[in-house]
Amino acid sequence: MTDPTTAPAVAAPAGGGAPDAVAAPPGTPAVEIRGVDKTFDTRSGLVPALDGIDLTVAEGEFVSLIGPSGCGKSTLMRLIADLDEPTSGEVRVFGKTARQARRDQDYGIAFQQAGLLPWRTVAANVALPLELHGVASASRRDRVAELLEMVGLADFADRYPDQLSGGMQQRVAIARALAERPRLLLMDEPFGALDEMTREKMQAELVRICAETGAAVVFVTHSIPEAVFLSDRVVVMSPRPGRIQQVVSMQLGADASRTEALREERAFFEMVTVVREALHGAPAGGARGVETR
Ligand SMILES: Nc1ncnc2c1ncn2[C@@H]1O[C@H](COP(=O)(O)OP(=O)(O)O)[C@@H](O)[C@H]1O
Ligand SMILES: [Mg+2]
Repeated sequence: MTDPTTAPAVAAPAGGGAPDAVAAPPGTPAVEIRGVDKTFDTRSGLVPALDGIDLTVAEGEFVSLIGPSGCGKSTLMRLIADLDEPTSGEVRVFGKTARQARRDQDYGIAFQQAGLLPWRTVAANVALPLELHGVASASRRDRVAELLEMVGLADFADRYPDQLSGGMQQRVAIARALAERPRLLLMDEPFGALDEMTREKMQAELVRICAETGAAVVFVTHSIPEAVFLSDRVVVMSPRPGRIQQVVSMQLGADASRTEALREERAFFEMVTVVREALHGAPAGGARGVETR
């Protein structure tokens, strides 16, 4: 289908080495969610978690999901990652079924807990997915060194997780999620457990990593400023059953302008206000937004 004389080889990762899944034609969305409902059948009855979700995440796009606790954000992430199945509707990842994308390791996952193996060093934790997929040890070593450099942990390769701060552990988890150069990252409140300063630093790291790798990201957060700082679009959800209330496009200028200075700019505050109003359905007044839970 792809004409090799005109199609740019944007999907090919630099460096080579790791075996790559067959690339979808350029322009194929990273994630397509169509008419998705999810109802849990529990002992106390049916729990409708998601209702009529339609969402497309483009290649290289950063989309955040924000909304009150229980509105189905994690459920939606689990459907994309094929950790659960929709009751109805369809989820596609790079044009494939969610099941196939999972088999092909098309994405990296980083959830709220870093989930590192305590008996493995930092380097060995990051190497794990490469090991599991039979990447030769020399390429593995090179790739791990590159990843630790990227997340600023080159000097900590031989440490164990319990010798690192929470923020450093999260960076290890992110390096691990990036190990196979996924074109999609699924992140469910990955910075939720971090203090504010570490959190802002990690946001800046993530912006840089996305710019370097061109990965699309679906990112769950409770923090409006975090969503605004990171995203191309912010999806505002409402609870019971979870629905998409509004999709807000961030108007903050080029990627290059996502620096610390952005947090002080008028455009940033304006977007924070727009998202807050979308969440509360009206001008915010004294409300502090959902990050207070
Ligand atoms: N495995 C499950 N069984 C039953 N109910 C569930 C399950 N997972 C989630 N839910 C329910 O679905 C709703 C959405 O949950 P969740 O996706 O975790 O919300 P969020 O991540 O936005 O806080 C909640 O009412 C929750 O109790
Ligand atoms: Mg959740």
